[in-house]
Amino acid sequence: MARHFLSLLDLSSEELRSIITRATELKSMLHNGESYTPFQNKTLAMLFDKSSTRTRVSFESGMAQFGGHALFLSSKDTQLGRGEPVEDSARVLSRMVDIIMIRTFAHETIERFANVATVPVINGLTDLVHPCQLLADLQTWFEKRGDIRGSTVTWIGDGNNMCHSYINAARLLDFNLRIASPKGYEPNQDILKAASNKIYFTHDAVNAAKNSDLVVTDVWASMGQEEEQKQREKAFASFQVNAELMQHANKDALFMHCLPAHREEEVTTDVLEGAQSVVWDEAENRLHAQKALIEFLLLL
Ligand code: CP
Ligand code: NVA
Repeated sequence: MARHFLSLLDLSSEELRSIITRATELKSMLHNGESYTPFQNKTLAMLFDKSSTRTRVSFESGMAQFGGHALFLSSKDTQLGRGEPVEDSARVLSRMVDIIMIRTFAHETIERFANVATVPVINGLTDLVHPCQLLADLQTWFEKRGDIRGSTVTWIGDGNNMCHSYINAARLLDFNLRIASPKGYEPNQDILKAASNKIYFTHDAVNAAKNSDLVVTDVWASMGQEEEQKQREKAFASFQVNAELMQHANKDALFMHCLPAHREEEVTTDVLEGAQSVVWDEAENRLHAQKALIEFLLLL
C-alpha cells in the first residue's frame, strides 16, 4: 500500500517534526550549492483543477533539483476534464509515474483517487484542507522561533481549507489556536471538535489576536467562491489584519499568509510588507518542505 499525504493527520507528530527538520536541511544544502539528486528518472504528475503559482512552481522545481521530472497536467487538457473516471485516471497514472500531486475542489475526489492509486498521492489543496502549505508555515515558524509547542497562533478570517489545516497542526504539534471567523463562516465542526482542547473560537478578531505569537489570515473568497466576493467583503469587514489588530498580539508576533494576498482586503499593505511579516520566507519554504515530503514518501 502506498503512503499518501491527503491531510496533515496522515502523519504522526514525530513524522511531521522530522519532515520540518529535513526541510531546513534541504534548504541549507540548496543554498550551499550542494547537488542532491536521489530521484533521477522519477516522475511526479501534478493534476490541477484550480490555478496555482507557488504549488506548481515549488513541486516542479523541487523535482528538477532532485534530478527527477514533473509533469503539469491541467484538467482542461486531460481526459479527466472530459469525464474519464477519477479511479481510471489514478490506476493509469500509477503505472507511469512514481508520485502524484492533486489540486482539486471536493476532498472526496482526492480520496477516491488515492483509494486506488498504487503510488503516493499528495494533496496540493482541496476545498477542505491545504496540508502542504502548513508544512511550509511550520518550517518557517521553527526557523524563526524554534518549537511551536505551547505557543499561541491566531487564525483570522474564513473557516476554510487553510484554517482546517491549522486546526490539524495544533493537534499534532500541541500549540494553542485562537480562531476568529464571521458568523456563517466558521470552520467545519467535526474538524474543530476533534481538536477542541487546543482551540479557542470567537467571532471577535481583536479577542482572537490577544496573546498571540503568530497571526495568520487568508483571502476572504477562496478559489471556486468568486461569485460570493461582494457578500463576503461585507461579512468579513471587521476581520482585516491591520496594524491596529496586530497591536493586540504579542510585540514579537509574526504574520503569515499563504498567498496570493489581496492587499487592503484581508490584510493591509503595511502589515504584509511590515517587519512582522514572514510571507516571502513562508512562500520559499513551500519548495523545501515539499521536497522533504517527497523524500519521505518515496524513501519509505
Ligand atoms: N499558497 C498557495 O498554495 O499558492 P498557489 O495557489 O499559488 O499555489
Ligand atoms: N483558501 C485559498 C488558499 C489559496 C492558496 C483557496 O482555497 O483559494
